[in-house]
Amino acid sequence: MKYSKKTIRDIDLNGKKVLLRCDFNVPQNRKTGQITDDKRIMSSLPTIKYLLEHNAAIVACSHLGKPKGSWDQDLSLGPVAIRLGQLLGRGVMFVPDIVGEEAVSKAAALQPGQIMLLENLRFNPGEEKNDPLFAKRLADMAEIFVSDAFGASHRAHASTSGVAAYLPAVAGFLMEKELHMLGNALSKPMRPMAAVLGGAKISDKLGVINKLLEKADILVIGGGMAYTFKQAQGHTVGKSLLEPDRIEYAKEMMQKAEARGVTLLLPVDHLAASEFSADATPVCTGEDIPDGLMGLDIGPKTVEIFSEGLKDAATIIWNGPMGAFEFPAFAGGTRSMAKLLSECEGVTIVGGGDSAAAVDQMGYAERMTYISTGGGATLEFLEGRELPGVTCLLDM
Ligand code: 3PG
Repeated sequence: MKYSKKTIRDIDLNGKKVLLRCDFNVPQNRKTGQITDDKRIMSSLPTIKYLLEHNAAIVACSHLGKPKGSWDQDLSLGPVAIRLGQLLGRGVMFVPDIVGEEAVSKAAALQPGQIMLLENLRFNPGEEKNDPLFAKRLADMAEIFVSDAFGASHRAHASTSGVAAYLPAVAGFLMEKELHMLGNALSKPMRPMAAVLGGAKISDKLGVINKLLEKADILVIGGGMAYTFKQAQGHTVGKSLLEPDRIEYAKEMMQKAEARGVTLLLPVDHLAASEFSADATPVCTGEDIPDGLMGLDIGPKTVEIFSEGLKDAATIIWNGPMGAFEFPAFAGGTRSMAKLLSECEGVTIVGGGDSAAAVDQMGYAERMTYISTGGGATLEFLEGRELPGVTCLLDM
């Protein structure tokens, strides 16, 4: 996939109407509806400010959650418009409509230097179906399509790629930065390059493990997915998360690492407990986890081995926590990994989702080279897959 794309610097914006696709899919408190993490909104500000300063009128749009084609007030983008207005220090007109009369007339009346936000695109079934009619109606409200929605670029939806059939399509600054940072880390990394993978399941990361074994010099595996590897090595894992149908795959990946001369580091001890609970008492086990216990974090010896293995890395890409970091007693491994990256003098890239949340919560975010705003999109990018929301943008 080409990731050198035309951007808003390469197109005349003066007096133009821009359809701006953002990824405003932000976490909210279910009861109060309050936005609990506005990083994705913050990350789109440079693009929005640039467009407004260059005399464009912005019809902004995004999805939020998974309303599956029907109207759900709990997933309205109204609160996002308010937060965006606060961050921009100016009014953002919220339009509780998507491609209906109200949206169309408000978009038509929008003046250069003004911004409006449409309602959650996924309230319309045409969005996820990539319905050409829906895409056309969105496109008809503007003259240029700008995508800053890297986080949604793995979806071939009407607003992420369909609209590009009708409008010149360029990248916003966030999209450009994601492609640049992730692209460089993968295609011309400073070496040695290390990849650290964690999270619950191997099956979510089959392609990424395979791909990174072709790119990295060191591959570190922790988190729930490590137990299937340990079982494949012949160790016992008690009642830890195990994917029996992935044991063969884990063996293949271990062979691939050996054949390619990649240093593969797996946990050699564990923090385990009898149940998956915040109150569970941590028990430090050796390499084998006894019956009745489940591994919930990497152990202290593993932290030492991982630290030693990563100390000379010039590039580290990290995706997925080392354990159940949502429970303080089992957050130590993930914290150590965040600290380790924060002390790395090379390039450190944190690939979205839980690991980004962990780095942020633990206070290390400022010390990373880059934290991706993507979750699934970042994983697919690292896998080397084509992202429809990127492919549809004009090449440089
Ligand atoms: C994300 O949060 O990863 C993106 O906004 C995509 O959301 P989706 O998984 O609901 O398509």
